[in-house]
Amino acid sequence: MNIKKMTTDRQIHACFDVMVQLRPHLRRDTFVASVRRQEKNGYQIVAALEAGRVCGVAGYRVFECLSRGRNLYVDDLVTDVVLRSRGIGQAMLHWLAAEALRQRCRHLSLDSGVQRFGAHRFYLREGMCILAHHFVRELVPEEMAADRAAAQTVKRKRAVKTTR
Ligand SMILES: CC(C)(COP(=O)(O)OP(=O)(O)OC[C@H]1O[C@@H](n2cnc3c(N)ncnc32)[C@H](O)[C@@H]1OP(=O)(O)O)[C@@H](O)C(=O)NCCC(=O)NCCS
Repeated sequence: MNIKKMTTDRQIHACFDVMVQLRPHLRRDTFVASVRRQEKNGYQIVAALEAGRVCGVAGYRVFECLSRGRNLYVDDLVTDVVLRSRGIGQAMLHWLAAEALRQRCRHLSLDSGVQRFGAHRFYLREGMCILAHHFVRELVPEEMAADRAAAQTVKRKRAVKTTR
């Protein structure tokens, strides 16, 4: 197995079938363009390949911040569902750690959904530790908020009618 950066449209497109297992909202027809947009902020995709077949993919960025200095952040990491528990995830994580050192980073970091217990076991086994809680708030533009409020009012009125 070898791990390499996927740089051409064709190579990036070849990552879709595995990446969509982690990010099911992605669309095949817009995937490459979306990766190309993110590349402007330093995003890159690497794939674990066996005889040309994509077995696993990872997306990452290197950036500097005040809290951690130079940091390699893993946006996405996924192994093809039929090839899990064979060491592919571990190999990709080792590659990412080596890449972080090559790029003078002192930390490798990532967020993992609270429901991904299997992945948490994997990261803890790989020597990572849980250092933070990740807080998110959805931001709604004003006009959408107004639409939502109007829809809620209609719903409430309907509910009142039906409970009478
Ligand atoms: C997490 C993930 C990338 C690990 O890849 P992998 O190729 O299976 O990794 P390895 O073979 O090196 O290690 C597997 C170990 O991870 C843990 N693990 C990860 N996911 C697991 C799951 N769903 N169920 C059980 N164990 C899991 C186990 O400890 C397992 O060890 P074992 O095979 O001895 O039981 C892979 O499970 C995956 O793609 N999961 C779904 C997507 C995901 O959650 N990605 C992480 C996003 S933050």
